[in-house]
Amino acid sequence: MNRNPQLSERGELQHLLTVEGLPREVLLHILDTAGSFVGITERDVKKVPLLRGKSVFNLFFENSTRTRTTFEIAAKRLSADVINLNINTSSAAKGESLLDTIDNLSAMHADMFIVRHASSGAPHLIARHVAGHPHLHVVNAGDGRHAHPTQGLLDLYTIRHYKQDFSRLSVAVVGDVLHSRVARSLIHGLTTLGTPDVRVIGPKTLLPAGVERLGVRVFHDMGEGLRGCDAVVMLRLQNERMKGPLLPSAQEFFKSYGLTPEKLALAKPDAIVMHPGPMNRGVEIDSAVADGPRSVILPQVTFGIAVRMAVMAILAGNR
Ligand code: CP
Repeated sequence: MNRNPQLSERGELQHLLTVEGLPREVLLHILDTAGSFVGITERDVKKVPLLRGKSVFNLFFENSTRTRTTFEIAAKRLSADVINLNINTSSAAKGESLLDTIDNLSAMHADMFIVRHASSGAPHLIARHVAGHPHLHVVNAGDGRHAHPTQGLLDLYTIRHYKQDFSRLSVAVVGDVLHSRVARSLIHGLTTLGTPDVRVIGPKTLLPAGVERLGVRVFHDMGEGLRGCDAVVMLRLQNERMKGPLLPSAQEFFKSYGLTPEKLALAKPDAIVMHPGPMNRGVEIDSAVADGPRSVILPQVTFGIAVRMAVMAILAGNR
């Protein structure tokens, strides 16, 4: 196994497990390829044959609306056969191990596994396990609090779409950074692409110790942190990953860190507002902002289709 398990010995993307450590050229190749798929969709081309004859298995061991559905749409637009394994009615519910499930699906001639799992590292484990099958690709669709690379990539795509160039931007990531795989993936992408000012804003209890080492500036005051920002990325409070009470209450959190029109007025007048979803209105974001003119939350979802098409097309081409 080479040092970066998602790259082949030739430096080509073999799996997509994390944005961390991915070379700038690989990130840009994915974003540019996604751009070409957006163009195709705008010309009303419904399908391209890049994955014809390939089987893509959606393995979601944790709930999802956006990621699972957009992977399915993306794979179908690439002409793949898509199999959505229902984990609750699969043999995983009878105690079959993750790797035994993978071996059995591999025996059904799988070409790609799209994996979401509550345990950080599960997609890495699968990628290592299938290392002897170079035609098999693993895409991390979110593992624990570790990484959500296609979400990070679609966030980068969205920022580039609205702001064109990363080299002059201030981007603020707000809220529960501690438990957020989305934040980690986006921050790695932003710094690799040369964003000069990446900020994280939140209470001490919801920011990882030593987060500065990721190349970000830390703010505990929302007003200070938002001042002059070009993009504001709001995060959900991930109660399901919290161990013990980290906040007085959701209402208190909203007062200090919820994005309201008044707080957004501190960012640049043309700042965009993003959120990976699912949103908790009235907890991290006010409906007036979520549904307001600067929100690009739904375009993020749409761009996610093209970004996921790009990832799968690139992987399938690198065998
Ligand atoms: N952003 C995101 O991962 O949403 P889902 O949980 O709905 O897939």
